[in-house]
Amino acid sequence: TGPVEFYGEHQAGITTPVQDRLHFATFDLTTTKRDELISLLKKWTAAAALITAGRDIGQYGAMNGPAQAPPEDTGEAVGLPPARLTLTIGFGTSLFVDAKGNDRFGLADRRPAALVDLPHFIGDNLDPARSGGDIAIQACSDDPQVAVHAIRNLARIGFGTTSVRYSQLGFGRTSSTSRAQTTPRNLFGFKDGTNNLKLEDTAKLEDQLWVQQEDGPEWMVGGAYLVSRRIRMMIETWDRTSLSEQEGIVGRGKGTGAPLGKADEFDAIDFEAKGSDGELKVATEAHVRLAHPSFNNGAELLRRGYNFVDGSDGLGRLDAGLFFLAYQRDPRKQFIPVQRQLARSDVMNEYIRHVGSGIFACPPGVQTGSFWGEKLF
Ligand code: HEM
Repeated sequence: TGPVEFYGEHQAGITTPVQDRLHFATFDLTTTKRDELISLLKKWTAAAALITAGRDIGQYGAMNGPAQAPPEDTGEAVGLPPARLTLTIGFGTSLFVDAKGNDRFGLADRRPAALVDLPHFIGDNLDPARSGGDIAIQACSDDPQVAVHAIRNLARIGFGTTSVRYSQLGFGRTSSTSRAQTTPRNLFGFKDGTNNLKLEDTAKLEDQLWVQQEDGPEWMVGGAYLVSRRIRMMIETWDRTSLSEQEGIVGRGKGTGAPLGKADEFDAIDFEAKGSDGELKVATEAHVRLAHPSFNNGAELLRRGYNFVDGSDGLGRLDAGLFFLAYQRDPRKQFIPVQRQLARSDVMNEYIRHVGSGIFACPPGVQTGSFWGEKLF
């Protein structure tokens, strides 16, 4: 329930053992002034350092300020522990060059080559109102009210400079980022996050997650790229699918989470194994085969997604799914080729629809006295 250190080499909220709840928001800047953008990032950083430490925002906080002014902190987290709150920032492509090609903040030449516009993938049905954004902030906490309080207050601080483009609540982690965590289940009822990058894999994290000196640009070294996808699940259709078909689609057992043909969740997947019927145990179009590093030039992702149910869709179906979040060193070598392969052949596609999307450059961690993204300017 305690605090997670805000300052450090890398931003918190990436390898931090995944918390239970998410409030993710993207913001569009309404200002065109570079100094106002810098001032916003400074104010956000100061506030983030306080609330992640479990303190009120501002000098007077929620209840001790002048009676005539709105309180500096909205107050709903007073008395709650920070519940491992982390706040992680990322910069979208439109911060560098907008859709019309304008260099709004003099940052066009600072745009990392790896911060590409995501291509269209087969089956994409993206809602522009739930995609993109100049800046993304991921708030994760074990307490939903703490995560919501954080986004709400950052939005409030940004009033007049920026506005919320969209936001997403998530309520059950769909991955683990540490071997100390048990693997949770997604809304298909399957263990999710078994074969994920974990914080204990330190050498692999340098290879697959953190931007290295040789990758450049300098301001991103120690950072990572985030791809977000709002993936709607057709859960009513899924729920009418047989157990063996569900397991065949994923390529793992529903109970144990073990690869088909194996007994333990963490057994290596045997992609050659065949059953007595002569068929491959893990089919050529099973999700875990198509997503596995051995069929993707070694590419891996640090997945950190959440379940969501946003009411119903007016057609008698739950608006439910997985808010997919994946961090990586270079989306051109990781998310894009993996998703291209999944979009083409994954048998899971019958049950899912990608309806929102984002890509963000998440700078390295903040040091005391500096602010989020300082080296970008
Ligand atoms: C593995 C579910 C979307 C990449 C898995 C596993 C499940 C699963 C149950 C097996 C357990 C594990 O190792 O984590 C889903 C569902 C999705 C979805 C329900 C959509 C709603 C995606 C997307 C990507 C992706 C969009 C990337 C583009 C992976 C990777 C693995 C994996 C890399 C690990 C494969 C391995 O190395 O064994 N997913 N997934 N998944 N998924 Fe997904």
